[in-house]
Amino acid sequence: MLNRQFNNRLATAAAFSAVAILGLSLSALSGRASDDRDRDRDDRNDEDRKILIGFREAPVTLNLVRKNRNLVGLGSYIVNVMSDCNGCHSMDPATEFTGNPYLFAPPSLTVRQTKKINPATYLGGGRDFGPFPAPDKSPLHIYSRNLTPDNTGKPEGGHSFSDFTVIMRTGHDFDKIHPTCPPNSAQTATCVPYPFDGSRLQIMPWSVYQDMTEHDLRAIYEFLSAIPCIDTVVEGQKHLRNTCPK
Ligand code: HEC
Repeated sequence: MLNRQFNNRLATAAAFSAVAILGLSLSALSGRASDDRDRDRDDRNDEDRKILIGFREAPVTLNLVRKNRNLVGLGSYIVNVMSDCNGCHSMDPATEFTGNPYLFAPPSLTVRQTKKINPATYLGGGRDFGPFPAPDKSPLHIYSRNLTPDNTGKPEGGHSFSDFTVIMRTGHDFDKIHPTCPPNSAQTATCVPYPFDGSRLQIMPWSVYQDMTEHDLRAIYEFLSAIPCIDTVVEGQKHLRNTCPK
C-alpha cells in the first residue's frame, strides 16, 4: 500500500515535471522565434540606415542605370564609411580632399568637421606607396590600382564579379604587375623579392577584407560600377589608364 502510494506520487510528480519541462521549452522556443523576428527587423532597419548613409556620403554622382539601388547604397557605406578604400585608392594625400578634415577648425563638439572628397581623383588609384619592400632602397614602387569602371561598365579594369571576389578573398593579382623575382637575382623595378609572393597584391588589406560576406562584396562591386570613370595617368604605370565612355 505504502509502496503504491509512493509510486502514484512519483508518477504524478513525473507527469508534472514533464508538463513543466514541455511548457518551459515551448516558451523558450517561442521566445527564440520572437528574438529572431526582432533581430531580422533590426538587421533590416540597420541595413536601411546604412543604405541612406551610403547615399549621403557618396562623394560623386552615381550612375544608377541597371543597378540594384540598395546594393549601391550599401556598397557606398562599406567603401566610404567603413573601409576607407579612397584613403589608398586616390592619387595623393595632398589631392584626396577639397575640404581637408585634418585642418584646424573652430572647436565644437556639435558641428561636424568639414570634409570634402575630391571627385577628380576618387578611387582612380595611382597613389605611390614608395619603394617595396625596403622603404629606402627597393627599385619597385607599389601603386594603388584604378577601381573606377571602364567603358564596359565593369569596375577596376573590367574585372567580373567572380574575379573581384577572388581578389578580395585571396589578394590574387590578375594583372601580374609585379611577379616574384627569379631566384638568386637582384630585385628589379617590376618584381617582388622572395619570400614576398608577387602573385598577390601587397599593401592592399585583402587579408582583412577576405572575411566579408558575399552580400557585402556584391554591394561594393555594384557601387564601384556606379562611380564615374577616371583615366589615371602616372608615368611608367600604364595599367592605371582606363578607357572611359565618350
Ligand atoms: C592600405 C591601402 C589600401 C586600402 C585601404 C585599400 N586598398 Fe585596394 N589596393 C591597394 C594597393 C596598394 C593595391 C595594389 C597592390 C599591388 O600592386 O600589389 C590595391 C589593389 C586593389 C585591387 C586590385 C585591382 C586590380 O585591378 O587587380 C582591388 C580590386 C582593390 N584594391 C579594391 C579595394 C577596395 C574595394 C577597398 C576598400 C574596401 C580597398 N581596395 C582598400 C591599397 C589599398
